[in-house]
Amino acid sequence: MALPTKVKMFEVGPRDGIQNEPNRVPTAVKVEFINRLSETGLQQIEIGAFVSPKVIPQMADSREVVAQIRKAPSVTYSTLVPNMKGFDQALEAGVEEIEIFGAVSEAFSQKNINCSIAESLDRFAPVCEAAKKHGIRVRAAVSCVLGCPYEGEIAPEKVAEVTEILYEMGSYEVALGDTIGTGTPEKTKRMLEAITKRVPVTKLSAHFHDTYGQALANIYAALEEGVAVVDSSVAGLGGCPYAKGATGNVASEDVLYMLNGMGIETGVDFDRLVDVGHFISEALGREVGSRAGLATLRKRA
Ligand code: HMG
Ligand code: MG
Repeated sequence: MALPTKVKMFEVGPRDGIQNEPNRVPTAVKVEFINRLSETGLQQIEIGAFVSPKVIPQMADSREVVAQIRKAPSVTYSTLVPNMKGFDQALEAGVEEIEIFGAVSEAFSQKNINCSIAESLDRFAPVCEAAKKHGIRVRAAVSCVLGCPYEGEIAPEKVAEVTEILYEMGSYEVALGDTIGTGTPEKTKRMLEAITKRVPVTKLSAHFHDTYGQALANIYAALEEGVAVVDSSVAGLGGCPYAKGATGNVASEDVLYMLNGMGIETGVDFDRLVDVGHFISEALGREVGSRAGLATLRKRA
């Protein structure tokens, strides 16, 4: 298949990235981070999660974040919602898009959201109905699509089955999460072949973590299969609290550098994105976790 000519970059740094930071990130830093991301040309940014603050304390101020950011008209801001309680909070906060999140592994589902896959789908159904009623867009994310920290290998058919259910429930797009980054390119292709028998490829996003250094190769494989949406995290921030040792998402700067090199349009400004990666890394007291970002900063200096 020909590579897509345009790719939508879905930025997850303020949620997937920040949720795993060991030290509490002040609301003002998050707000400034999101405001700066909003000026890079990105169309979608995941900015928080209405989940249990006991489980994920780093997202406890999502309501304040939603209220305080400077909303750019060209950007859609998303927040994770696991159940009706989270939906009610998201609605009250005035979000325009929510993201339900499930898994293709029973063990991961239990650890992450404290219920089975079937129970999670039962929780998502009323969330999708309520969202529709209130004109809120629904996206879905599914974890462990290329391997589970507890169950190991996952059958592509299982991924296809859950993805189809989430899509049919009313999600306009399903992000396929390689939560622990164990996927490889051919495996990515086999998975997509199974899913696209049931869900159009235009409704899928690659949400790959870079734990084993495979994310860019896997994204390229996904692009070859027709996927044209990529989730990434500026400066490679992130991980998942229930996937021990999982490092960050693939870095947005690295994805953009690759897409620019292939002449694929994104509308995102590379230099501005590098600046934001630099800003948030300094604020968190860590080195920029993007190879392309770091190389650019060193060249500038
Ligand atoms: P539960 O214990 O089954 O929920 O947790 P419950 O309904 O039995 O309620 C227990 C307590 O939680 C109650 O409070 C509820 O009010 C409260 P208490 O009476 O004990 O004081 N509660 C809530 N509080 C705030 N917001 C809510 C909410 N719901 C119940 N929405 C629950 C179930 C899902 C809430 C919990 O397990 C949870 O919050 N999990 C968070 C999981 C999470 O955020 N994980 C990280 C994001 S997923 C990810 O990173 C993967 C992804 O990036 C893709 C990939 O890479 O694979 C998306
Ligand atoms: Mg993730």
